[in-house]
Amino acid sequence: MSEADRLDALLQETRSFPPPAYVRTGAIASDPGIYRRADLDPEGFWSEMGTALHWMRPWDRVLQWDPPHAQWFVGGELNVAENCVDRHCVGPRRNKAAIIWEGEPGDQRVITYGQLQRDVARAANALRRLGITKGDRVAIYMGMVPELAVAMLACTRIGAVHTVIFGGFSAEALRERINDARCRLVITQDGAWRRGRVVPLKQNVEEALLGAPSVEHTLVYRRVGAAAPQVALRGEVDWDEALAHESAVCPPEPMQAEDMLYILYTSGTTGKPKGIVHTTGGYLVGVATTHRLVFDLHDSDVYWCAADIGWVTGHSYIVYGPLANGATTVIYEGTPDFPERDRHWRIIERYGVNIYYTAPTTIRTFMRWGPQEPAKADLSSLRILGSVGEPINPEAWIWYHENIGKGRCAVVDTWWQTETGMIMITPLPGLTTTKPGSATHPFPGVAAAVLDEAGNLVGPGAGGNLVLTRPWPAMMRTIFNDDERFVRQYWSRYPGKYLTGDGARVDADGYFWLLGRVDDVMNVAGHRLSTYEIESALVDHPAVAEAAVIGRHDDLKGQAVAAFVTLKESASGDMGAELKAHVAVKIGPIARPDDIFFTAELPKTRSGKIMRRLLRDIAERRVLGDTTTLADPNVVAMLKQQYDGVEE
Ligand code: PRX
Repeated sequence: MSEADRLDALLQETRSFPPPAYVRTGAIASDPGIYRRADLDPEGFWSEMGTALHWMRPWDRVLQWDPPHAQWFVGGELNVAENCVDRHCVGPRRNKAAIIWEGEPGDQRVITYGQLQRDVARAANALRRLGITKGDRVAIYMGMVPELAVAMLACTRIGAVHTVIFGGFSAEALRERINDARCRLVITQDGAWRRGRVVPLKQNVEEALLGAPSVEHTLVYRRVGAAAPQVALRGEVDWDEALAHESAVCPPEPMQAEDMLYILYTSGTTGKPKGIVHTTGGYLVGVATTHRLVFDLHDSDVYWCAADIGWVTGHSYIVYGPLANGATTVIYEGTPDFPERDRHWRIIERYGVNIYYTAPTTIRTFMRWGPQEPAKADLSSLRILGSVGEPINPEAWIWYHENIGKGRCAVVDTWWQTETGMIMITPLPGLTTTKPGSATHPFPGVAAAVLDEAGNLVGPGAGGNLVLTRPWPAMMRTIFNDDERFVRQYWSRYPGKYLTGDGARVDADGYFWLLGRVDDVMNVAGHRLSTYEIESALVDHPAVAEAAVIGRHDDLKGQAVAAFVTLKESASGDMGAELKAHVAVKIGPIARPDDIFFTAELPKTRSGKIMRRLLRDIAERRVLGDTTTLADPNVVAMLKQQYDGVEE
């Protein structure tokens, strides 16, 4: 199906689902007036939401808005670790499970709020002993173990800024991020389990440190033991030994609401990843509020977000939102097909998970594996099903609703970004009538619009650029060390409005339908990648003269990476395999191109711009678009001819 056909089919979607009775009764957001109330007085709304946290000093002003720079809860002081851990330890939640963890080999741990408090305090004292103080940057490169959450919370306890780097990134990608943030410490582990094999995290750190002079120490958690390559790192300290020597008392550092909480690198439209900066007070208010209302969180719920903490979804909705709300959050270490394809359903059954949050690409994988897998387990505990990371096609939505939710659960398709920090467009499960494939409406207090090129609102059904028209508490504050890029990239296209980079339509009922990125950012299996970043990795190879990368449609992954490469004349051998491996080394296995196509020349306009639209047409085997502006139209015809001959 062509892109246009897919979009047409999407907009003809007429099925709708009122909130299931099972969810509506007792839902936390049950008054539809919440939208109007928040819209009339957004600052009043967020101020009310802010009171759910513990503040060491109350704020003087909810919002100071000097577009595009916002400050939220100005003058307020709080500590994130205290809010996520300590305050739950003074009442009946002290012995509640904060984290239920399952390792890939099958080991299990339940960590209560009381235990988490002691671990976080010990880890915070260990960081202090290594000389880390307020404002210092700490890189965290770990797998999905509870110690990753402990490490993040320990940083926030002493006011250090963490930057978590997804364990699927390579040594080079890790080094680039450590250097950009000038980290003094790296927290890592010997290795992580993935499909029964070891991801050699520590070895990658060793390689990354070769060119990372800012790092003074490394703190290493032992997870896989002898199964990992044995290496010694600069200033290495063992996690367990360090914590064993520390006191479980560590007063939380009072932080200004606008002090930096973390940096998270994400791909943009250039080759260099951007360090998205989130701050303390507004972020925590934003993620706690959305987590409570979007997932209809009740105190007895077991909540599981199956994302990786290395991405923003894990930051906001495995660690900070759930723990700020005193929830029980499940963390699973491995992949959904290990040892069998029913692993997720077994986990839901084992712990009685009530709320499950995953990505469309995973749902489509489950669809391919067949309904007999979830049918093996008892999924009757489920009440809310979430989706995030990419547009969910109506077919996958319906499959999720029927085969996982058994028609009883609310499905919440949540649209947001690393930059927004919190969920922005989403149903509220007890209030919203959902339409499969639509993220429905902006969250209360959030304002979104779809604009044409001239900045006018587009009418119902027409496509345009999705913008956010009002500041929100968890919004990114800047790009680390590059405020100019922040202003240019997000706020200059339509002054005073935040440009999301996504295309969208609003239907006649006011529902938002997300149509994917309109810039050079790809979304591959829920991972955000930049075309330029992969192009830079390719041209870094000595045999490559020129490269163009595009995201082509893929039924399973949403998008797949297609690379068009012009080789230097001297190149020989199996360059396809070599270049794929090269990209995996430069960025990580997640960026490995699916297709590499060699061409004597890339199609360019007369002004020398690569015509990506044409490359996409070729990669998706469509009729060619307009080639009249092409410098040499023969290039495309030749490319298409060659490419059509390649087996799928
Ligand atoms: O294109 C949108 C897509 O993911 C992008 C953000 O990617 P990232 O910063 O990695 O954050 C992913 C998790 C929040 C967006 O610009 N996206 C995310 N959620 C949805 C989505 N597209 C459609 N529907 C969604 N629910």
